[in-house]
Amino acid sequence: MAIRPILHYPDPRLRIPGERVETFDEELAQLVADMAETMYAAPGVGLAAPQIGVSKRIFVIDIATGEDQPSDLRVFVNPEILELGETCVSTEGCLSFPGSSEEVKRGKTVKVRAQNEKGEFFELEADGLLAIAIQHENDHLDGKLLIDRVSLLRRRILHRQMAKRAAAETTV
Ligand code: NI
Repeated sequence: MAIRPILHYPDPRLRIPGERVETFDEELAQLVADMAETMYAAPGVGLAAPQIGVSKRIFVIDIATGEDQPSDLRVFVNPEILELGETCVSTEGCLSFPGSSEEVKRGKTVKVRAQNEKGEFFELEADGLLAIAIQHENDHLDGKLLIDRVSLLRRRILHRQMAKRAAAETTV
């Protein structure tokens, strides 16, 4: 397993839509293991493959953040959102927008169909943080980011903050 570097906005690779996974092999298992390790190390509750520069339709989520909670790793390959519940406002961060905290409209509940790392299909109905995380990570697979879901004013502010940060990172 290896921790992979997480891309930060405005890296253009975050905008590349993920391709469907067709082969469920050892290489995929390795990628998923790396994604989980990268997410835990960050730390974050979710990570999508495009965030480590891999344009594939895969994300991992673990919302069990308490120290005494057992891990609850969930792997979603080729996910499809089937239903969204009533709209709510969630406050979200993103590992590709370090330090961000944005208010975003999401479905309160979600029904999703996906495959696991072995290619087995499953359906899941989720609410709470898990529902929000699924919608957030699923956006990444379409090259859609937190900044696309905020008001025009917040978008300008966030873009400037991130551009400044990126400039500082490259000059250091
Ligand atoms: Ni994100």
